[in-house]
Amino acid sequence: MDQVNVGLCGLGTVGTGVVKLLQSHADEIKYKIGSEIRIKKILVHDIEKKRDVVIESDWLTNKPEDLVNNPDIDIIIEVMGGIEDTNLLLEQAIRNKKHIVTANKDLMAVYGQKLLRLAKENKCDILYDASVAGGIPIIRSLTEGLASDKIQKIMGIVNGTTNYILTKMTDHKLAYETVLKEAQALGFAESDPTSDVDGLDAARKMTLLANLAFKMEIGLDDVEVTGIRTISQEDITFATSLGYTIKLIGIAAIYEGKVEISVEPTLLPNDHPLAQVKNEYNAVYVYGEAVGETMFYGPGAGSMPTATAVVSDLMDVVKNIRLGITGNEYIIPQYEKQLKENNE
Ligand code: NDP
Ligand code: HSE
Repeated sequence: MDQVNVGLCGLGTVGTGVVKLLQSHADEIKYKIGSEIRIKKILVHDIEKKRDVVIESDWLTNKPEDLVNNPDIDIIIEVMGGIEDTNLLLEQAIRNKKHIVTANKDLMAVYGQKLLRLAKENKCDILYDASVAGGIPIIRSLTEGLASDKIQKIMGIVNGTTNYILTKMTDHKLAYETVLKEAQALGFAESDPTSDVDGLDAARKMTLLANLAFKMEIGLDDVEVTGIRTISQEDITFATSLGYTIKLIGIAAIYEGKVEISVEPTLLPNDHPLAQVKNEYNAVYVYGEAVGETMFYGPGAGSMPTATAVVSDLMDVVKNIRLGITGNEYIIPQYEKQLKENNE
């Protein structure tokens, strides 16, 4: 496998970062996986749009079948967003035996378990580390570094846009609308930022983490969600005067087999480590029965940090293909059982 061919869906904030990273770190990547990664096609809406990255003339297409049904493509990287159409696109790709790397938490929170099962049936990988906390390898840590432990609780800041907004409202007294526009211009916010500011993006991420940590199906309906839209400058000033900082905090914990999960604006004492997490940065505490308390910190959104997670997943897929161990996804036990029954 001297060469692995990739189809990239999306050339926006994250997709552009992926192309740049594959170009700037080509030697590093080849050294570590022993294969050259070649982009074959890039799916976009508008093939005429000016792009902020060097691309080859025959890469861009607006036809999904140029990637999904392309026999030359081994791996699809999905960084275009969307749920229903994107799910159909990825299902088709998996049936065509293509491995998937995605940054799409909206999709994974809704169709994740179904896609993971389909991938397993087709001996394909589907990796999604970039979908939670951007450049922080939090999914990778739950499925690998902390895999031997029983996770009891996960708590932290998992949305960069709202943390950026709250930081600027607190430290610079800027207006909510002004900083939301900044977060959009910087590429942190979703195409519809409602999901960021209303806490839905964080809720989706917390369900993905909780599924992995507690090996139970936890849906969005199980999450108590409150966003930051109603936080006023007066609330922030009042909190500051008492020595507190307001942060959007996600918590998922398991007590006696029952999971409690929430996302809500929370008052933290100024000297709490999460109160020190600024701008688009994220930080996640994971409490394991054996390991105790661990904390993960880093850029939670943005082009290059997210691209790092995407390309690292891509490299893992290549390693798995070489080892012949693709399709070993982390499926929650209830589905694992169902899958076995279906195969019998
Ligand atoms: P952008 O809006 O910047 O880019 C989306 C890209 O996908 C564009 O190139 C667009 O084409 C293309 N696209 C979208 N829908 C379609 C479609 N139906 N058919 C063809 N092309 C399409 O998004 P981001 O890069 O910010 O985000 C991408 C994904 O990554 C999302 O799932 C997001 O949640 C996730 N993510 C984003 C992070 C971030 O910091 N931005 C961090 C972590 C995850 P065109 O350029 O022609 O408009
Ligand atoms: N909109 C998301 C955020 C992007 O601000 O955290 C990263 O998932």
